[in-house]
Amino acid sequence: MPYGRGAFCVTGGAGFIGSHLVDRLLQLGMTVTVLDDMSNPNRAWLNAQRRRPRLDVVEGSCADPSAVDAALAGLADGQGAVYHLAANADIRGGADERDKDLRDTAVGTFQVLEGMKRHGIHDIVMTSTGAVYGERLQPPFSVLAGPLQPVSLYGAGKIAAEAFTHAYCAMFGLRAWIFRLGNVVGARMSRGAIRDFITKLTADPTRLEILGDGTQRKNYFLVEDCVEALTTLPDRIELTVERPSVVMNLGSESCTTITTITRCVIDELGLSDVSLHPLGGKRGWVGDQPFVELDVSEAFALGWKPSRSSDEAVREATRRMVAEMGASV
Ligand SMILES: NC(=O)c1ccc[n+]([C@@H]2O[C@H](COP(=O)([O-])OP(=O)(O)OC[C@H]3O[C@@H](n4cnc5c(N)ncnc54)[C@H](O)[C@@H]3O)[C@@H](O)[C@H]2O)c1
Repeated sequence: MPYGRGAFCVTGGAGFIGSHLVDRLLQLGMTVTVLDDMSNPNRAWLNAQRRRPRLDVVEGSCADPSAVDAALAGLADGQGAVYHLAANADIRGGADERDKDLRDTAVGTFQVLEGMKRHGIHDIVMTSTGAVYGERLQPPFSVLAGPLQPVSLYGAGKIAAEAFTHAYCAMFGLRAWIFRLGNVVGARMSRGAIRDFITKLTADPTRLEILGDGTQRKNYFLVEDCVEALTTLPDRIELTVERPSVVMNLGSESCTTITTITRCVIDELGLSDVSLHPLGGKRGWVGDQPFVELDVSEAFALGWKPSRSSDEAVREATRRMVAEMGASV
């Protein structure tokens, strides 16, 4: 990765993970162009970025070639790289707007790859997801496991995005580091169980409705650990002409159940006597993958490890979100 040369385009850079990644790249002295369609930006963060040195923001969709051109124009031929995070990250929303994952994630990735080809940019780091595995494989999921049979349009869109990226690398000389993330948590989260529970309990501190039966278990890790991996692992993974792209899981070794998150949020809000109402069923909503347990041994072997266990990450993220949301009950 061209950290020495220092120009990056971050698609989805106004979102949860993207904004933390942009902060880190700027802190490292890099120049950053954000390409974001502002469908789910963190407004507070974005407003604080006005006239921030070495940061440019292009508003537009990855699926729009002219927006991609505008964002990549600042990256001189072969001298910059792309962090591609833009996607429909709203798994539930994808069930209602059924072409969203196709358009924003699959076509969006295709247009970013096309734009890179037009502008002579070779390197891309992409965030994929544990949702590509579906629920029929034996956990923990290894990147060697298959067949991939996702239970959401989100997972399907990501598989397509991954596949186009591998093919562009094999055919057109690009290099790609694709990371399948577990559940990333921390400040500026716009969705997820922690935020959902804080919102519900702030409205009614006596009862809490839980989507699913509470046994769903997923791998949680903090956003700064995710950003650390995205910015350090590419330099530790050598890509060659024979292997121009790689896919790797990122997350913690452990998992946390929804019931544990419930207890953590109740605790951090200082509540007791909350009656719990699980709605039942093994998944929280159509498209919810009941378990996301990832084999993260490859990333660990390269010297990266999250700073907290999954339970500790949930606890820390809950504290940050309670503070950020100003929740008092
Ligand atoms: N948060 C997680 O736990 C998690 C887990 C696995 C994978 N990921 C992946 O990480 C990436 C970032 O996720 P996040 O949680 O920060 O989500 P987010 O919704 O907070 O951020 C996504 C950003 O992309 C933008 N965006 C959406 N569609 C776009 C498009 N077509 N063109 C340009 N911008 C667009 C949104 O406005 C938003 O700012 C996504 O690719 C997501 O699939 C996230």
